[in-house]
Amino acid sequence: MNHNEIKLFSPATVANVACGFDVLGLCLDTVGDEMVIRKVDKKGIRITKIEGFKLPFETELNVAGVSALAMYQELQPDCGFEIEIKKNIKPGSGIGSSAASAVGSVYGINALLGSPLNKTQLTRFAMKGEALASGSEHADNIAPALFGGFTLVKSVNPLEILQIPSPDNLYVTIIHPQIEIKTAISRAMLPKNVALQDAVTQWANVGSFIHSLHTSDYPLMKRSLHDVIIEPHRSKLIPHYDEVKKQTLNVGALGTNISGSGPSIFSLCEGIKTANQVKDVMRKIYSNTGIDFDIHVSKINTKGVKVL
Ligand code: HSE
Repeated sequence: MNHNEIKLFSPATVANVACGFDVLGLCLDTVGDEMVIRKVDKKGIRITKIEGFKLPFETELNVAGVSALAMYQELQPDCGFEIEIKKNIKPGSGIGSSAASAVGSVYGINALLGSPLNKTQLTRFAMKGEALASGSEHADNIAPALFGGFTLVKSVNPLEILQIPSPDNLYVTIIHPQIEIKTAISRAMLPKNVALQDAVTQWANVGSFIHSLHTSDYPLMKRSLHDVIIEPHRSKLIPHYDEVKKQTLNVGALGTNISGSGPSIFSLCEGIKTANQVKDVMRKIYSNTGIDFDIHVSKINTKGVKVL
């Protein structure tokens, strides 16, 4: 094994998870980027290879580069790093493409330096990448990509991340219609204020959803997976959203909602059988639209980013 080089799988994630805008996230198993991080004598951070999608090679303009640079400037190691990115997650897909890149670079560099930082500290640097990508330093994709499982960003300043357990039999079915929704735009369209009654409904749902994960209470999970604040605004950007939601719930999804800022749509399901039925329904609806799409069925990935 070359101790100056590390190859990683950096997973896709679902942020918000219906009721938890900017605080809740979950980690997917089957989709993610591959990255190679290499320690070299020449100082600085360089992006040396990008495959899959066209992204900037300039360190300051690349999400992985910016995150790595923030960490590098603080740690000031006596070496440099090269980053290779095999991008499998399409930027703008709503499944944490930028977070996966940012997490891979900071996790890899930290590992090659002998792990001086913990995952919460790494989150702080990876958030610089999110700021570049979307104009806001949210951590609800970064946290699950780093920690795995479900995470709750209790606070951004000071940074506090809680890991939430999840039942073994919980699956995610996720469809990615191949249209792009820029996070910055879908954030800008959100109202600045919310009605008190909506806030009450929402925080009750977040609390009860977390409780349902701790207790494997699927009926409670189903009653909690609602969003009265964000979904009414953003769902309009996603073609056939209402139909997908209605039909996936009809075949037994616990909840269906927008993944992050969209356009991906996810359903949480009890058991693989229901997850596959939901997949069939999603496929059927989108097959008739002329819009290309991918669908994945995934368990909850409890490990997060990992060395390959
Ligand atoms: N919580 C963020 C949003 C996630 O919904 O804007 C974006 O990936």
